[in-house]
Amino acid sequence: MKVTAIYPGTFDPITNGHTDIVMRATCLFDNVIVAVAGSTSKKTVFSLDERVKMASKVLGDIENVEVSSFEGLVTDYAKSRDAGVIIRGLRAVSDFEYEFQMASMNRQLYAKTETAFLTPAEQFSYISSSLVREVASLGGDVSPFVHKDVMQALKKRLNG
Ligand code: COA
Repeated sequence: MKVTAIYPGTFDPITNGHTDIVMRATCLFDNVIVAVAGSTSKKTVFSLDERVKMASKVLGDIENVEVSSFEGLVTDYAKSRDAGVIIRGLRAVSDFEYEFQMASMNRQLYAKTETAFLTPAEQFSYISSSLVREVASLGGDVSPFVHKDVMQALKKRLNG
């Protein structure tokens, strides 16, 4: 039986830490859908379309990876794509409580899906999209953290 996993997130923007998680997931699951969330409580710097385009650019060449977007509940999207696994990245102990809460809620909403937690390589354990945006907006070098096209997009949007 083939297992499809979805990796949901805001990806505002996608970072090398996200890519690291996607690469790890491709070794474990047959198909990985990177699902960019339209409904998020966060005020994003990039539009949904821009976030999808950036993720597609970064991940486009990886076999078994699809980039898509979704609105509404992640569990409804998982159901619609027949995905049995939701992937989330755990960077530090501080991520755990919130992730545990989300995984439990998602299981309550759709019992047929399991949340799998993957940890990124150590050099990505402290980065987040908002930190990358902040560094870029103040003229710092974000090249170790994002793809070159994402770096350009950040420069143009935040430090143009
Ligand atoms: N590398 C780099 N950064 C990482 C990372 C990694 N491996 N793993 C997590 N992060 C960062 C993200 O960039 C993000 O940074 P930011 O806060 O600066 O933007 C942060 O860690 C994680 O944010 P979080 O809010 O936990 O997750 P998210 O933004 O990635 O995605 C959704 C949250 C979209 C999955 C969630 O809101 C959702 O499912 N929404 C749909 C509606 C729904 O179903 N709600 C009910 C859920 S129970």
